[in-house]
Amino acid sequence: EQDPRIEGIASTIRVVPDFPKPGIMFQDITTLLLDPKAFKNTVDLFVERYTGKDITVVAGIEARGFIFGPPIALAIGAKFVPLRKPRKLPGEVISEEYVLEYGTDCLQMHIGAVQPGDRALVVDDLIATGGTLCAAIKLLERAGAEVVECACVIELPELKGRERLNGKPLYILVESG
Ligand code: PRP
Repeated sequence: EQDPRIEGIASTIRVVPDFPKPGIMFQDITTLLLDPKAFKNTVDLFVERYTGKDITVVAGIEARGFIFGPPIALAIGAKFVPLRKPRKLPGEVISEEYVLEYGTDCLQMHIGAVQPGDRALVVDDLIATGGTLCAAIKLLERAGAEVVECACVIELPELKGRERLNGKPLYILVESG
């Protein structure tokens, strides 16, 4: 019942132990990008799911949501909005802080990029604790958008990040760990 393309995608993701620090099994999607068929299948699976759903904005999370988000946005006819780490966007922004293992980080979005009535899809490469996606959902909702779904290539289900999304649906292609 699983789409036959998913196994091929999963096989291209490289797992790097102890990066960026001891104990972390880093899920490296750069090796997926080296395989044009796997990269195309990844984008196609998302495009097939979101075509005809009246999505008006694809919000991509820095950094790897900037790789998968734009081809999806172009294919479904939605605008692309980057959600960036602090002090990267030149215009007026709204910010959402989120908690990391040590300290906090923050995502920012340009004011006016997303408007009431927009229907949003949030895209990233991976969900771990879910803190990043949770902050992204809050930014979009503060701007008046309806978050239709979050989409990631990889989920680390053991970290239960899905439970932090306040009931927002999450679609993933590959489970890892
Ligand atoms: C990774 C990943 C997600 C986030 C998920 O980004 O690309 O954006 O972590 O983690 P969470 O579910 O626990 O919030 P990273 O922190 O490596 O930042 P980068 O993309 O800027 O390198």
